[in-house]
Amino acid sequence: MAELAPSVLGADFSRIADEIASADDAGIKILHLDIMDGHFVPNISFGPAMVKTINGLTDSFLDVHLMLSEPEKYFEDFAKAGADAITFHLEVHPQPSEYAGQIKKLGVKAGISINPDNPVEKTLPILELFDFLLIMSVYPGFGGQKFIPGSLDKIRTARRFIDDNGLGTKIMVDGGVDAGNAEEVAAAGADILVMGTAFFGAEDRGALARQVAGYTQSLEGRNS
Ligand code: DX5
Ligand code: ZN
Repeated sequence: MAELAPSVLGADFSRIADEIASADDAGIKILHLDIMDGHFVPNISFGPAMVKTINGLTDSFLDVHLMLSEPEKYFEDFAKAGADAITFHLEVHPQPSEYAGQIKKLGVKAGISINPDNPVEKTLPILELFDFLLIMSVYPGFGGQKFIPGSLDKIRTARRFIDDNGLGTKIMVDGGVDAGNAEEVAAAGADILVMGTAFFGAEDRGALARQVAGYTQSLEGRNS
């Protein structure tokens, strides 16, 4: 069973309380919050104050995706703001075990993310330290981009490794996921599908969440 995590970047910020309430009504349990610094990625989004606001609006699990060049400077701020998981990029720290420890010490789950041009194999030796592996299926920085099909093989590779080694790490896929490709992404082995544009643009958000929940990982996907 796959799970849909809306990316709040795709919401209408002028009606943020209604948008979050609508996600709750759709049965959503995880929200994905994209933090961009204008340096690691060519865009700026929002910071801990917004995370705190959202935390006050919902009981959902808050998964904070740090697209920051120096994420370690902000772990504590985001934990205090209500983050339940903090994910940083492998690209900013070649020895990420230290950061995983810092995040967990704050009582928060830890995630590691990789960009489309970075092989997923680089994350495998350290995966046991992380609760989440966030596979980027677009180059991070903007919502509304097209899913990069090569991401499917990365998902399959990670799924096989996690299953073969009995790890509890959950695979999240982020970027260009929509109603048209969600089944394939889930079948490849993803546990959590992040959707910004597709979720907040859906006519029936509840139906989309139920549709995703009906998708399962396929053995064929895992073994190919
Ligand atoms: C990309 C972000 C994504 C993005 C997803 O930089 O990390 O979370 O907002 O948005 P869609 O679903 O529109 O690609
Ligand atoms: Zn993201």
